[in-house]
Amino acid sequence: MSVNAPLNRKLRMGLIGGGQGSFIGRVHATAGILDNRAELVAGALSSDPVKAKASAPDYDIPADRAYTSYQEMAEKEAKLPADKRIDFVSVATPNHTHFEISKCFAEAGFNVICDKPLTFDLKQAEELAAIVKKTGVVFGVSHNYTGYPLVRQAREMVRNGELGEINAIRAFYIQGWLRTKLEADSQKQAAWRTDPSKSGAAGCFGDIATHAYNLGRFITGLIPDQISCHLKSFVEGRALDDYGTAVIKFTNGALGTVTASQISHGRENEAWIEIDGTKGSLEWHQEEPNKMLYRVNGKPHQIYTRAGGPYLSALSSASSRLPSGHPEAFFEAFANIYSSVYDDIVKRATGKPFDGAASIYPNVMDGVDGMNFITQSVASSQQNGAWLSLKHPLCRS
Ligand SMILES: NC(=O)c1ccc[n+]([C@@H]2O[C@H](COP(=O)([O-])OP(=O)(O)OC[C@H]3O[C@@H](n4cnc5c(N)ncnc54)[C@H](O)[C@@H]3O)[C@@H](O)[C@H]2O)c1
Repeated sequence: MSVNAPLNRKLRMGLIGGGQGSFIGRVHATAGILDNRAELVAGALSSDPVKAKASAPDYDIPADRAYTSYQEMAEKEAKLPADKRIDFVSVATPNHTHFEISKCFAEAGFNVICDKPLTFDLKQAEELAAIVKKTGVVFGVSHNYTGYPLVRQAREMVRNGELGEINAIRAFYIQGWLRTKLEADSQKQAAWRTDPSKSGAAGCFGDIATHAYNLGRFITGLIPDQISCHLKSFVEGRALDDYGTAVIKFTNGALGTVTASQISHGRENEAWIEIDGTKGSLEWHQEEPNKMLYRVNGKPHQIYTRAGGPYLSALSSASSRLPSGHPEAFFEAFANIYSSVYDDIVKRATGKPFDGAASIYPNVMDGVDGMNFITQSVASSQQNGAWLSLKHPLCRS
């Protein structure tokens, strides 16, 4: 079968961010082309125009499509012939820029994959959801942990009733890299993440708790009802939280907790989730993503492995590339998000209907969900953990 049938060509990708010295842009670029379904052809790679140009050869982006700003890129790409211009843009820039960049490209008709958190604040997220609806573009959000084969397996096991009714979700995202005031040394990634004018209303809770919250929502599909949260900044002089815990009541009576830290000594990138149902419990860790534990009282514990065999669902199996025992991880999970977004981009490009609202990939509604979670976490914490509504009309239900 030819690539991206019935479109029968590679998609053309543009990248915003990812300039020299940055983090996640390279991951987007790698994930985007992993399955040979796209090629990176254009970019506005840095907020610094000189660096934007200088970074282009690192990605084999030709000089005439290495732009000095995202505005220039949107304008010039839109003027290119249809068989040349980008099909979509990936936004890998700090949080305060996501809205303007996504809006600019969506309104020009380009599909968008934006990193999380979706925007700077909830109002922007709601506006972006309206723009996506109006323009009909495909819009993905890189909550990449939902791309792991065993996370997708967990979701299907919950949906099939294998866990029974879900009573509890414990989601964690624990890091230690901000134990010291790294931002005072102008460390690039620390500087904007701890700056309220760039990160948004939350620090650690916006940066990583959003992933943990999203993971619980993705796997269980439970609808959030109320939230109570406490956020703290333990490093002296830091303007935003570097630790926090939220308790969430779901509409079915389940209880959830989300704990996130960036000040825990020795912890690297420990995102993990545990789910308790009336029939069984699951546990999955992103630092050991190729296995997942399923436990039932009185029975031997079962270890599910990625590509472990026919007991895995079709979706989970299709989310793996290598045979079992050959570890897959971050890049591949990221690429799974890309691949499912590509399916919809191909449909849109070939005039076929697609249901972006029901996508397996995180979409703009999940982005709004994350921003609502951040907003209400901060508001609850400011009211000493008051219970606040976590319902939002634009989120998946
Ligand atoms: N999904 C994940 O697992 C994950 C991991 C890390 C970061 N992120 C998210 O990705 C985004 C970027 O994070 P990072 O750690 O890569 O940041 P970074 O500081 O390492 O890189 C940001 C890049 O964006 C560029 N940039 C800033 N403003 C720009 C503009 N207006 N136009 C073009 N380029 C611009 C910078 O010059 C830099 O190259 C953030 O929103 C962050 O929350 C997601």
